[in-house]
Amino acid sequence: MSEERLHPNLVLERRGAIEVLRIDREDKLGALNFEIMERLGAYATELTARIADVRVLIITGTGRGFVAGADIAGYHGASQADFDGFQRLSRKTFDAIAALPQITICAVNGHALGGGFELALACDFILANEKAKIGLPEIKLGLLPGGGGTQRLPRLVGPMRAKDLLLTGRMMTGAEAADMGAALAACSPEELMPRALELAETLAAQAPVALREGKRVIEDGLDAALSAGLTLEQRVLGTLFASEDGKEGIAAFMEKRDPKFRGR
Ligand code: COA
Repeated sequence: MSEERLHPNLVLERRGAIEVLRIDREDKLGALNFEIMERLGAYATELTARIADVRVLIITGTGRGFVAGADIAGYHGASQADFDGFQRLSRKTFDAIAALPQITICAVNGHALGGGFELALACDFILANEKAKIGLPEIKLGLLPGGGGTQRLPRLVGPMRAKDLLLTGRMMTGAEAADMGAALAACSPEELMPRALELAETLAAQAPVALREGKRVIEDGLDAALSAGLTLEQRVLGTLFASEDGKEGIAAFMEKRDPKFRGR
């Protein structure tokens, strides 16, 4: 296990096939400024290329803040061009995270507001501190979300629940998020990282190609017509059957032993 500071506010912990990226800006409850957003996006690009070594990424925060949104101080007095530039950057960064071939788990330790909730929504799984405050409060600033909140949230929980959060700007707890399907589960703050690591280890132990393709089939299928999604599913399964791991998985079952997957 090794730790590296990618940026004054971003700490990366390497644990073999699992990496933990921690946003470390508790004094501002993890608010994302231009530089943090840029480094986060660059990290996602670097990580994509390391798919052979790293299969699961956990993103979390520090103390009582996960990410309380975009850094509002940067909005104050900003020119239209600078504001638009920040929104383009957040789109690029969150899209890069959503497109990662690794499986991503967001461990929401504290406030996940605005861009913080949107960062979580760009991940495959959200595990939340049951008391964390989660929401899209931009409407209270006379704005709306710009990092995917208006699009990813309704796809996850349906348009009515998304409108409730987005148009009232109210905050929900991690427990409520789990109840409505905006998080996989909620737990006590002490249990959060152990649960995230347990899920990460379970995922990292799966056949690597099937793991990666399983994520891609679901994501690509959501953007496609059902018939196109079903065609994609069969094509991917055929490829997996032909793969070394597919043959090993079936052989291991027949021989009543644990499979040894090699990622090809
Ligand atoms: N951008 C910049 N700074 C932020 C921030 C944000 N999105 N959210 C919190 N902070 C800062 C506060 O300004 C404060 O800094 P200071 O100590 O230098 O004054 C520090 O983080 C702690 O926040 P504070 O407001 O004192 O804590 P609280 O417990 O009273 O309230 C919140 C917590 C999250 C309810 C409140 O900070 C808040 O409403 N934040 C904005 C959330 C938001 O609108 N996000 C969407 C942005 S588009």
